[in-house]
Amino acid sequence: MNRPRLYLSPPHMSGREQYYIQEAFATNWIAPLGPHVNAFEQEFAATVATSHALTLNSGTAALHLALILAGVGSGDEVLVSTLTFSASVNPIVYLGARPVFIDSERTSWNLDPALVVETIERKVAQGRPPKAVIPVHLYGQSVDMEPILSVCDRYAIPVIEDAAEALGSSYRGKAPGTFGKAGIYSFNGNKIITTSGGGMLVSDDADFITHARKLATQARDPAPHYQHSEIGYNYRLSNVLAGIGRAQLEVLEERVQARRRNCTYYQQTIGDLPGITFMPEAPWGRHTRWLTAITVDPVRFGADREAIRLALEAENIEARPVWKPMHLQPIFAHYETVGGVVAEDLFDRGLCLPSGSAMDSSDLERVVQIVRSVHRP
Ligand SMILES: Cc1ncc(COP(=O)(O)O)c(C=O)c1O
Repeated sequence: MNRPRLYLSPPHMSGREQYYIQEAFATNWIAPLGPHVNAFEQEFAATVATSHALTLNSGTAALHLALILAGVGSGDEVLVSTLTFSASVNPIVYLGARPVFIDSERTSWNLDPALVVETIERKVAQGRPPKAVIPVHLYGQSVDMEPILSVCDRYAIPVIEDAAEALGSSYRGKAPGTFGKAGIYSFNGNKIITTSGGGMLVSDDADFITHARKLATQARDPAPHYQHSEIGYNYRLSNVLAGIGRAQLEVLEERVQARRRNCTYYQQTIGDLPGITFMPEAPWGRHTRWLTAITVDPVRFGADREAIRLALEAENIEARPVWKPMHLQPIFAHYETVGGVVAEDLFDRGLCLPSGSAMDSSDLERVVQIVRSVHRP
C-alpha cells in the first residue's frame, strides 16, 4: 500500500497544545485538577453559552453522571435515539434502567419529535412516564428540540442532550447541549476537537454541576479525612489533557469551517451522481458536517454503499457505514422500539466519508475519484 492512509476523522492539532502541556509540566500541575482544567471549563462554558461546565475523562462518563443526577435508576425508562453510537445508551443500562429506542426523521436524521411526543403521552397515560429523554445530535447537526422540550416541560421530564458529535453546531442560534437540564460533549480522538480522550458536562444549574463534580471525584464529603456518604466515580480529566483542550477550543470555528468545506467539495464533485444523496442540513441551524454522510441508492447508482466502502478501503481510505441502529444491536434488541424503519434505511444505505479538518484538495480528490469509479450507469 503506497499511499498514506486517509482516516475518517483523525485528530488535528493546532500547534498551541505543546505550549499548554509545557506549562502544566513547568508548574507541576499533572493531577486531574489544576489551572488548565478550571480555564478549560470557563472557556468551554463561554463557547457554548452555558453557566457551568465540568471537565470529565469521557463523554460517556458525563452522560453517566447526568443520568444519575436526573434520578434515573433501576427499572426506569429513558427515551433515546436509536440511530446513534452505543455510548448514548450504555449509561442507561449501567443504572439498571431500560432504553426505549425512538426512530429518526428524514430532515435531520435525528430523533423524530412526533414519535417522542406520542410515546411520552402514551406512557404518561399508562401511569409510567419516562424518567429522562436523551436527544442525540448526530454527525454535527442538532435535533429539532422545540417540540421535545415542550412535551418534556409539560410532564417535568429531564432532557439530557448528547451533543458528543455536535460541538460548533447551532439550533435557532444556540448551541445544542444547552437546551435541556444538562448536555454532554466528547473530546474523543475522532471528534471535531480532541483532548485525546475526554468529555464535558454542562448545565445552567449550579447545584447539578457541583454535585456532579463531587461524584466525579470519588464522592468525597467535605472533611479533612476521607469520608463518603454516596457512591463515587473517578471521572475527572488530567490537567495536562485539559491544556490540549484549551488549544483545540481556540481553533474550533476554523475546524467547523474546514469540515463544512469538505462537505461542499463532495457535494460539488459527487452530488451529480444518480443515487447519491447528502445528509440534509435542517433549516433550524448550522450543521458542522463533523462527518460528511451520504446515502446511496443501489439501483440508481449501480452499486451499494458497501461497494463504495470496499473500493475506498482497497485504496487505503477509511469510510464507515452510518451507525447501526441500537434496536438492531444484539445487546439491546430486546428493548422497546418505537418505529425504526427510517434508521434502518439510513444504516442500510448510509456511508460516512473521510471528513478530517486537515484534509487538503488532493485528499478529497482521492476519495472523489474512487466514488466516481464505482458508479455504474
Ligand atoms: C453520540 C455519541 N455519544 C457519546 C459518545 C461518547 O463519548 P466518549 O467517547 O468521549 O465517551 C460518542 C463518541 O464517542 C458519541 O458519538
